[in-house]
Amino acid sequence: MSLLLLAPERDMQPYKRALLDVDPNLDVEIWPEVNDEARVQFAVLWNHPAHVLEQYLNLKAISSLGAGVDHILTDKTIPADIPVCRIISGSLEQQMKAYILNAVLNYQRNTYAYFRQQQQGVWKAHAHPSAKKISIGVMGLGALGQPVAQMLADWGYTVAGWANSKKELANVDTFAGADQLHPFLNKTEILICLLPLTESTSGILDLDVFKHMQHPGYVINVARGQHLVEEDLIYALDKEWLTGACLDVFTEEPLPDKHPFWNRTNIIITPHVSSITKPVEVAEQIVENYKRALSGMKLQHRVDRQRGY
Ligand code: OXD
Repeated sequence: MSLLLLAPERDMQPYKRALLDVDPNLDVEIWPEVNDEARVQFAVLWNHPAHVLEQYLNLKAISSLGAGVDHILTDKTIPADIPVCRIISGSLEQQMKAYILNAVLNYQRNTYAYFRQQQQGVWKAHAHPSAKKISIGVMGLGALGQPVAQMLADWGYTVAGWANSKKELANVDTFAGADQLHPFLNKTEILICLLPLTESTSGILDLDVFKHMQHPGYVINVARGQHLVEEDLIYALDKEWLTGACLDVFTEEPLPDKHPFWNRTNIIITPHVSSITKPVEVAEQIVENYKRALSGMKLQHRVDRQRGY
């Protein structure tokens, strides 16, 4: 039996080395050079091509290479009884916290205004509000959303959180479900999206959301590009409901050359780098789940395929 690494856009050699460091007896294949498809019992995936998994008839389980699993759950060719798990790691959490804090501080401390001023040789101070005066709303209180909300509360920001079901978090005002979306947004100046991508969250960052936030607001999207209705963001920026946005994810990645976001100085673009899976940090988790799958044990960080996360 073998473990397959299938991620067309990534160099998977470092993952193979890290897995073999954990267990030198593993048989690890890297797609597309697979010796024997029938031997593959576990696949680690990131943005796999359509229909490719139909060739692997003996798969016992699948792992995402990252925290998100939408790229797997949207593949309807995967039999419903194959368990799917994802990567949850301290490093992904740490990186996400750092990215978000950096984006929030850039907003609070006028970093981009100073960049622009420097280019024009302008010396001009802008007032910045204290952390407590800034209300931040975190959408999605899962494995990354909770620690992010908690970290922001620890930094002294006024933090609210919204999720599908009610969560209790120290120093975070929590809201749940569609009924409480507007009350949550009313308390939100900076909106951070850390939701899983599901049918009910796709396109959730729309005009209605921007309209009900505090004005002027700011949006940070580190979840999936499909959460955001791009033309609604442009409209909300033009209306000055929002002063800007920091986006790490896009409906189409890489962001196409002619995309209107490129020319907006108030949209900060990063190329899907907020939190990156590092081979040595996740190898043990992958090997553990591979062994669990082979012996029919419950996987760690298993995803509820019905719920979509
Ligand atoms: C992830 C990602 O889901 O990097 O891990 O987007």
